[in-house]
Amino acid sequence: MNLKGRVAIVTGAASGIGRGIALALGRAGASVVCADIDPLGLTEVAAELHALGLRSLAVRTDVSKASEVTAMVEQVLRDFGTVDVLVNDAAYLGFSREHKPFLETDEAEWDLHINVTLKGTLHCCKAVVPSMVAQKRGRIINITSDAAKAMAPRGEALYSAVKSAVAAFSRTLAGELARHHVLVNCVAPGFIITPTVLKTRRPEWREKVEAMIPLRSAGDPEDIAGMVVFLASDEAKHITGQHYSVNGGTLML
Ligand SMILES: NC(=O)c1ccc[n+]([C@@H]2O[C@H](COP(=O)([O-])OP(=O)(O)OC[C@H]3O[C@@H](n4cnc5c(N)ncnc54)[C@H](O)[C@@H]3O)[C@@H](O)[C@H]2O)c1
Repeated sequence: MNLKGRVAIVTGAASGIGRGIALALGRAGASVVCADIDPLGLTEVAAELHALGLRSLAVRTDVSKASEVTAMVEQVLRDFGTVDVLVNDAAYLGFSREHKPFLETDEAEWDLHINVTLKGTLHCCKAVVPSMVAQKRGRIINITSDAAKAMAPRGEALYSAVKSAVAAFSRTLAGELARHHVLVNCVAPGFIITPTVLKTRRPEWREKVEAMIPLRSAGDPEDIAGMVVFLASDEAKHITGQHYSVNGGTLML
């Protein structure tokens, strides 16, 4: 897959799946803009992209803040002249340590899910879509979860609600933007080994989960990145409004 000459923005690029996506887009030839709230992780991923000899930019951006997203996209348009690909990967995952059932959550926590995971995606789309429509070309790839497709584990009611909202939003946006040749799709990871997963699960978790996965192993960020690079490429020019799981067969729909 060749993305030479394309410019991609990846939110949540400082860690895990977002980092894997940023590096894979870079290896496919794209210039990559990494947006995240974690300055240290951003510095590391920027250095990795630089070492690959790629043009890249790291911008500290809180996607829940419209003003920061607008400023980041304006900077990208100034420096690179275009945005061809937007990957919305950033999400609120602070809940994953506690597995609190819904009745133990409060409105402040609901707001974190809504503001980062849902509104963060909306802010980024709103900032990027006008330039994509003007150039009659664009790809938006939203990272959801299998939790948006079926009953999620205990403690993930809010997470599954906002991920489902992102999926529903993406379908309708795909319909609205199709005539402008801006394609919108979702990728739903299953169990993927990332720093957040390793920090928040007990060591025996991996063995238990892998026993339930038909392909018998959890995935890596590269598994998700492969699907994202495909959806960003010319090979996917006839695909929009779709929601693909990458999950080792955990959920077969
Ligand atoms: N790992 C899995 O098993 C799994 C499964 C299903 C879906 N996902 C989805 O994949 C994506 C990445 O998950 P991960 O496991 O790589 O997590 P991660 O914690 O490794 O990465 C998430 C990144 O998002 C950034 N972020 C958080 N809030 C932000 C904000 N307000 N603005 C900008 N950046 C922000 C974090 O700093 C971090 O770098 C998320 O959307 C998650 O819901 C992951």
